[in-house]
Formats: sequence, C-alpha cells, structure tokens
Amino acid sequence: MAKMEVKTSLLDNMIGVGDMVLLEPLDEDSFINNLKKRFDHSEVYTYIGSVVISINPYRSLPIYTPEKVEEYRNRNFYELSPHIFALSDEAYRSLRDQDKDQCILITGESGAGKTEASKLVMSYVAAVCGKGAEVNQVKEQLLQSNPVLEAFGNAKTVRNDNSSRFGKYMDIEFDFKGDPLGGVISNYLLEKSRVVKQPRGERNFHIFYQILSGASEDFLCKLKLERDFSRYNYLGLDSAKVNGVDDAANFRTVRNAMQIVGFMDHETQSVFEVVAAVLKLGNIEFKPESRVNGLDESKIKDKNELKEICELTGIDQSVLERAFSFRTVEAKQEKVSTTLNVAQAYYARDALAKNLYSRLFSWLVTRINESIKAQTKVRKKVMGVLDIYGFEIFEDNSFEQFIINYCNEKLQQIFIELTLKEEQEEYIREGIEWTHIEYFNNAIICDLIENNQTGILAMLDEECLRPGTVTDDTFLEKLNQVCATHQHFESRMSKCSRFLNDTSLPHSCFRIQHYAGKVMYQVEGFVDKNNDLLYRDLSQAMWKASHSLIKALFPEGNPAKINLKRPPTAGSQFKASVATLMKNLQTKNPNYIRCIKPNDKKAAHIFNDALVCHQIRYLGLLENVRVRRAGYAFRQAYEPCLERYKMLCKQTWPHWRGLARAGVEVLFNELEIPEEEFSFGRSKIFIRNPRTLFKLEDLRKQRLEDLATLIEKIYRGWKCRTRFLLMKKSQIVIASWYRRYAQQKKYQKIKSSAIIVQSYIRGWKARKLLRELKHQKRCNEAATIIAAYWHGTQARRELKRLKEEARRKHAVAVIWAYWLGLKVRREYRKFFRANAGRKIYEFTLQRLMQKYFLEMKNKMPSLSPIDKNWPARPYLFLDSTHKELKRIFHLWRCKKYRDQFTDQQKLIYEEKLEASELFKDKKALYPASVGQPFQGAYLEISKNPKYKKLKDAVDEKIIIAEVVNKINRANGKATSRIFLLTKNNVLLADQKSGNIKSEVPLGDVTKVSMSSQNDGFFAVHLKEGSGAAGKGDFLLSSDHLIEMATKLYRTTLSQTKQKLNIEISDEFLVQFRQDKVCVKFIQGSQKNGNIPTCKRKNNRLLEVAVP
Ligand SMILES: Nc1ncnc2c1ncn2[C@@H]1O[C@H](COP(=O)(O)OP(=O)(O)OP(=O)(O)O)[C@@H](O)[C@H]1O
Ligand SMILES: [Mg+2]
Repeated sequence: MAKMEVKTSLLDNMIGVGDMVLLEPLDEDSFINNLKKRFDHSEVYTYIGSVVISINPYRSLPIYTPEKVEEYRNRNFYELSPHIFALSDEAYRSLRDQDKDQCILITGESGAGKTEASKLVMSYVAAVCGKGAEVNQVKEQLLQSNPVLEAFGNAKTVRNDNSSRFGKYMDIEFDFKGDPLGGVISNYLLEKSRVVKQPRGERNFHIFYQILSGASEDFLCKLKLERDFSRYNYLGLDSAKVNGVDDAANFRTVRNAMQIVGFMDHETQSVFEVVAAVLKLGNIEFKPESRVNGLDESKIKDKNELKEICELTGIDQSVLERAFSFRTVEAKQEKVSTTLNVAQAYYARDALAKNLYSRLFSWLVTRINESIKAQTKVRKKVMGVLDIYGFEIFEDNSFEQFIINYCNEKLQQIFIELTLKEEQEEYIREGIEWTHIEYFNNAIICDLIENNQTGILAMLDEECLRPGTVTDDTFLEKLNQVCATHQHFESRMSKCSRFLNDTSLPHSCFRIQHYAGKVMYQVEGFVDKNNDLLYRDLSQAMWKASHSLIKALFPEGNPAKINLKRPPTAGSQFKASVATLMKNLQTKNPNYIRCIKPNDKKAAHIFNDALVCHQIRYLGLLENVRVRRAGYAFRQAYEPCLERYKMLCKQTWPHWRGLARAGVEVLFNELEIPEEEFSFGRSKIFIRNPRTLFKLEDLRKQRLEDLATLIEKIYRGWKCRTRFLLMKKSQIVIASWYRRYAQQKKYQKIKSSAIIVQSYIRGWKARKLLRELKHQKRCNEAATIIAAYWHGTQARRELKRLKEEARRKHAVAVIWAYWLGLKVRREYRKFFRANAGRKIYEFTLQRLMQKYFLEMKNKMPSLSPIDKNWPARPYLFLDSTHKELKRIFHLWRCKKYRDQFTDQQKLIYEEKLEASELFKDKKALYPASVGQPFQGAYLEISKNPKYKKLKDAVDEKIIIAEVVNKINRANGKATSRIFLLTKNNVLLADQKSGNIKSEVPLGDVTKVSMSSQNDGFFAVHLKEGSGAAGKGDFLLSSDHLIEMATKLYRTTLSQTKQKLNIEISDEFLVQFRQDKVCVKFIQGSQKNGNIPTCKRKNNRLLEVAVP
C-alpha cells in the first residue's frame, strides 16, 4: 500500500509504540527496548497516555521549526506522532477554550533536558498565542527572563554544562482570549555552596566567568576586577572554559536580556557590583594571631582587597574588618563579644559570600517579577511551568539531595493523585464503572520527612534550636530514636535496628526508601546547612553599606528591627515553599514531561540501557503505565474511531449514516470482539487491552491493503477504459477526416475533368459559330461593297450631271453679269470719271499709310541710343517720312536715356561731351579716351599717409590728382610729378616727398598745346610776367591727356569765364625761361613699342617721335 502522506493518528507509521500504554507485554525490558528503538530513529518523545517522555537527543533535531509549530497547532493530542508541542498545544487550548488553569511539570535528572523542555513549551505557546505590539513585548520579557536567571542560577557541572542550580516555577498569565499578560516566577533553593567551592570538573555560576570575559576594560576597572580567572580563589581553575560556550557573547546576551526585561542601568550596575564584591570576598585571607590570654584571633593578611570591597560597596572598612574578627552574641540583654579564630573567620567570609549571592539571586527574581507582572486586575488564566531538579542519588548525598528528593516525593504524590483523579473523573464522565486500581502511594514517605512532630525535618529543626551542644551525630541519634520503626527508614545506630548487620550502611548515615529507590544520606553538615548561619555582625555591617542594593539585601542588619527570634531554618523554609507549590499545583490541570538522559557522556546517539533503566525506575514510569492501564488501556472518541476502522465492516463502509456510537457498536459486533474487551462510554470507546487495539490495527492494515488493491484495480480499469475510449473517439475523428479528404480529392478530380471536357466542347462550338459568323460577315461586306460601288457609280453619274447643269447655270449668270456690267458701265462711265478716281486714290493712300504705321509699330528697334537698326522703307513715296520718323525716334530714345541719369552721371557726360567738342576729329588720341571713364583723382591723396603734408597744403577740392611726366628741356628726359588741379590752381609736386614744386593760379594759364597724334604730350603755357612763369611753361606727358585737358578747360571757364585756348598742332613753341623751344612731333619707328620718345635735337628743338 502506498504510504499515507497525511497523518491522522499517532498509530500511523509508528516506530515501536508511540504510547507506552499500548506496550505488549508490559515489562521493564520491553519498555526500554521500545524507548531505544524510537531513540535510534530520532523519535525522542513517547507518550504514556497524556504524559510525555522526552529523551535528551544531545543534538539539534529539525523538529522545532516554525513549520512544525504550524503542524501541531490546533491538532488533537493523538493525531500526530508524540511531541512536546502536542502537549503544549493541548495545555494551551484547554486553558484558552475550556478555561482550565494548567501546569506543566517537567522532571528528570540533571542534564535530562528539563530546562530545554520548559523553553520549548514557552516558545511554542509564544508562537501560537495572540500577536500585537503589546503582547509581543510581554512575550519577549517572559522569554528574556530565562537568559538572566540562567546566567546567575546555572553552572557547569559534571552532569550538565548548563545545569540549573535552583528550582524554578513560572506562572504565565493569559487573558480570556489566550493572549499573555505577564508572569510570576518562584525560585527554590539555590545551590549557594557552589559560590565558595565547586567539585572537581565543575564551575561556579556562569555570571562570574561572563563578567570577566565579556566586560570592557573600562567596566572591569569600575568593578575593580581583573580579567584573569586565576586571580580569584572562588573560581575553580580546572574547568574555567566550557567547550562550545562563549562567555563573552553570553555576557552581552545577558545584559541585553536585562535591558529587555526592564532593568534600569543603575540597577544592572549595582547587580554587577554585588557580583564583583562576592568574587573579591574570596580573595580575603586570614592569618592567626595569638593573644596573651590564650584566645585565638585572626587578622586579615592583605587589606588591599578589603579596601576595594569597601569602596565598591560603600561600607566603612573598619566596620567590615571588625565583623570578620569578632562575633557578638546577645544573651539576656547582654552583649558578649568573642574573637574569631582563622577557621571561624573563613567560615564567616564564606557565609557572607553565599548569603550575598543567594539574596542577590532572590532579589533578581523579585525584580524580574516586578517587570513581568500582569498589569491588569482582570481574571487571569494561568499556565505554570515547573522546571525543578529531579530525583538525585549520588555516592555522597547530603542535605541538598535530601531536600531535592523530598520535593520529588511530593511531586510524585501529586502526580499519582492527579493521574488517578483524572482517570477516575474520565470514567465518571463517560459513565463507565470504576474499578479500584492498586498502586503504591508514597504518602507514607512524605510523612516520614515532613510530619510536624516526627518528621525528619521537624527533628532537624528541633536539634538546631536545642540549647547545648548540637552536632550532626546528636541529630542522627535523635532520628534513630524516633524513626527506627518506620518501614522506609534505615539506620544502623539504633540498638533494635533491623540493619545492625548491614555493612553497606555506614554509621554516620541513614537511608530512606524513596518511591524511586533507596538513598543513603551522609548526616554530616545537616545541622549547619539547616541553620544557614550568618553572624549578626556581618549582616549589620552589610546593612550599613551605602550601596542601596546591598543594604536592601540585609534588612535584618537594621539595629532598629533587631529580632532575637531565630530566622526560619532552611529546611522549614523549603518545606513551606514546597507546600505552597503543591497547593498551587493541585488547583491546576497537570501535564507531565518526564525527561530522561540517555547517557552520561553528553553525547548524541548513545543509549545507555542501565542508565535509562535506573531513571525509568525512579521516575516510576512503569507504575505510571500500570496506573493508566489499570482500567482501560486505550480510549478514543467515537467519530475518529469509526473513521479509522469503518473499512473493516460492510455496513459502515464506505459511509455510515447513523450516529458514530451506533456505527462503532455495529463494527465491534461484526468483528466479534469479546465483550469484556471494551466498554462504551458517553463519547468514547474504551478498550481494555492493547492487544485488542493492535488486532484492530492489523485488520485495518490488511483491509487497507485490500482496499488499495481494489482501488488500484478499479483505477487501472478506469484508466484503460478511458484510454480505449479516447483512442476510439480519436480513431473516428481521424477516419472521418480522412474520408472527407479522400472524397474531396475525388470530387476535385471529377470536377477538373468535367471542366476540361466542357472547355473542349465549348471551344469547338465557338469555333464553329465563329466560322459561320465570319462567313456571314464576309457576305455582308461583299454586299456592302457591291452596293457601294453601285451607289458610287450612280453618284458620279448624278454629280456629273449636276456639275454640267451648274456650269451651264454659272455661264448663264456670268454672261448675264457681264452683260449687266457692260450695260452699267456704258450708263455710268461719265459719272465715274469725275469723282471716283480721286476717291479711290485717297482711300488707297489712306490704307497704305495705315498699313505702314501698323507695321512700323511691330518693327520698332531697341531703345538703346547706339542701336543703328531701322526698318527698311516699304514705299518710295514715304522716304522723307521714314527718315524723319527715324530721327524723332532717335531723339526720343536719347531723351529717355538721359532722363535716367543722376547729377554725377550728367556731369561726366557733360565732360565727355566737352571733350568730344574739343578733340573729336582733331586729336588721334581722342577715340581711345571715349570708353575710359573720367576719374579725376587717380591718386587718393587723402587716404595715403605719404601725402599728408600735400593734403594739408591744399585745402581746396581736388579735381585732378594724377602722376604725370615732366619733360626736362635740357635732355628731353621725363621726371615723375604729381599733377593736381584744384578750383583755382594747377600744382606740381614731388612724387616721392609730396613737396609742392610749382603752383600756378588758373588765371595765369593761357594755353594748352598738344599734337594731333596718338601721344600724351602737352604743354601748359603760362602768362608772361606772371609769378609762376619764371621757370617757363610746363611740358608734360600723361596717359589721361584728354581728361586733363577737358577738366582744365572746364575749370578755367567756370573760374575765369574765359575759354582756355587749346591748340592742336604737330609743332608748337614752348617757353623755357628766356628761350623758346619748338616741340615737333614726327612719325617715329616702333622699336620702343607704342611709347612716344622725346629727344633734344638742338637748343631750339625737341623732337617727339610718335609710333
Ligand atoms: N530537546 C533537546 N534537543 C537538543 N538538545 C537538548 C535537548 N534537551 C536538552 N538538550 C541538551 O542537553 C543539555 C542539558 O539540558 P538541560 O539544561 O535542559 O538539562 P536539565 O534537565 O535542565 O538539567 P539540570 O537539572 O542540570 O538543570 C542542554 O544544554 C542541551 O545541550
Ligand atoms: Mg535545568
């Protein structure tokens, strides 16, 4: 059968048996084997009914994850495999839903996992209960109280690296919704002797090591401590370090936890100061000092440590020193002071250290309670978690073991009471007859210890209070007298003892038969430990401290409250607190976690049968199973029972319509289960023997296998059928598609064949028709042609006839017209000759003129004045008109042309016109000058800085500025000069320097001479006798002769109103000083290019050769 994924019962996939109640046969071996088998399969939890047995796995198992929490949340107890979460869930739900206060009792020996179990319970409840900021803070505070208490109350022992050295009971309080409100912690009997001495291989309380490893240098300095463990006598050296424990990190955790729980900074500081003081107390040493009167006295060896303690605690050094040296005893209002010897001084020191530490621990618990106290007054539901030391049997058992074992006796008692009570209540509730159950009741042992008159504790107290010498031996004697006959007390001391010959029992011991086994107690130290004596001088010294915490820890030191009554003994205190605890537990619904330690090596995977056997015995687990099984071994509600086994009966399978109980009845009848094996309760079926249950389970398993086969069979059949049907359906679909396809193809083929045949036939038919139509058409055409020819012939004949007729008619008309014309001419000849001739002539003339002008209009030449074109004359008689028209047009277009001139252009043209008048047809150079524009100022005097001086000298407007050649009359050579013409003067200046050489007013210029040839020579004649004429006339040559002459002419005219004489002749005279020289122009050769050359021929002749 396939594995069922979802668990619905603890019986599914069970390793061994999950509930010991079902163990068959029930004996110690099978019990241990079952535990071992489960342990080997990592199943560390097993039930005895509702009790959880937990075996410490010594390794982290993946069974505490948030997913696991969810898995167990809101599930019935027996639904899943055994787990501490199942118990926690059951407890929490019945607290929340049924309003029953709960307590969870965790017991087991040291290292069995009690503290871990208590933390698991708390964390489970924290995970499943309500959420919200406030609730979370409460949860956090409750959870964080653990590390604080563990640091101060736990220590490494040989049995457990984190052994709780105190008993702890914590009430967690919830509101009606199940949200946590707060809590109350009670602590029991801290093992304070550990403060001053630790057995080999063990350590002092964790906090000492944590401070020294984790505190900063600064903080250590404040506490006057050194980091070195070996500096302190109270710290056992051989195991200062614990494997896998980081004291420094834990210190930080503790401080953080203290902060979360709500310790103020100054409180934390005070706490650590007290711890430091305790540590330093151990370093105070004493030396003996003899006095004359023979009394022993002690003295502190090195007072430095004492001084530091006093500084730390604010105690007057002398007060403390005295308290260590003297002891004051008050008797009958009389104070007697005795000295302390060295041993007593050490005793006093250690007593102070122990008291200081244990009182600090109790203060811490009270302080934590203050913080985690529920803030509301509303009614609370309570869940108590008890993590208390388990039953202890050592080789040497002392007062502490006695106390612890007493506590366990009490717990066992309420366990028996409550278990039986619960069992009984259930039977009553379910209406089942109650049968008496035989079990061992340990009330008698409890009585042996706690009886107010004859109990061992009462005896001890009596001894302690008795005046006279009191020793442990006198106490034992007393015990022997009183308890000798008690069947659970064994001692060799009494004369009539049954154990006189029992050598295994030393004389200084007594033995008690506890419910879990015999334990032998060493009587030594009982009286002392019960007294728990602290000299009054020391408590008074402490009360005097200025350190407020220390002061508060020793209220009895206040002299105002001096109390002569002895404080309650440790035994009576413990008895009272156990009684309160028991009372408290009895009001609650108990849940048990029994922790078992699988080996002594703190190692995973090792299961030591003997060790486990021992624990099973003293935890009374077999007893437990027996009690549980005394009536009925197994019970289950009807619904889940029917649900689980309904397949075993035809009537109930697969569905039962009636009530579940009736269904179960039918089922059990059908299965023929003997009647004495079961009983019907109100809501549950009770099965007496586990055998019956296993038989049912076997049957169920068998049946499930059959059912699985059946389901498999049906499923396979269904699967094949479905597959077949699917295939069939698919085949039909495929076939239909194929058929369709084939038919489509066939049809396509037939269709195309039909189309081909059809097209052939149509073609043939069409051709035939075409042939016929063609034939018909040709016939028609032939007929038309014949008709046309025939009509043509007829038409031509008719035309011919008509033409003949028309010709005849025309001829008649012409002849008639001629005839008429003749007649008219004959008649009008005389009138015509007189008028018509002239009129015709005028008309004709008019027509011709009109035509002429219209044609002229279209043939007009361009508007350019130099355009010579003119249309040819059409008629001779219009010759003069034509010429006149040409002239008028030319004048008109010249005017048009002139009209668009600017003033400047007008001036230029005036100059050009003047030049033409002066030189046209007179000077060969003239035609070349027509195209050249007259620029006047060729030299830009004003712009050239070289001529600045010249410019400054001439302040008139310059008309001409040009470089000319001045001809030297001595040799005919030329020198460059600047020629300037202004409004009033002609100036010649040096070309290089710009110095004025000559200046001639225009009035003194009489004439300008030049040749008729193509050269630029000209002479400027000056008036005889004028100022400028001293050197004679100028003979110059220029490239712009025509322009210069014209401008000179025009300027002279406008200035002097006289026309300048311009002589054009190839021979003229020039006055040079007194001489007149003739300048003659001749036709020269072209060997110098086109440049005219001037040569002096003789004194009176200069010859210019013009090429
Ligand atoms: N459920 C668990 N899973 C893994 N380890 C565990 C578990 N329970 C206990 N341990 C291991 O065992 C050690 C001892 O457990 P724990 O301190 O709870 O013992 P204890 O019963 O409280 O002993 P003591 O009486 O000395 O205080 C733990 O420090 C832890 O290492
Ligand atoms: Mg513990």
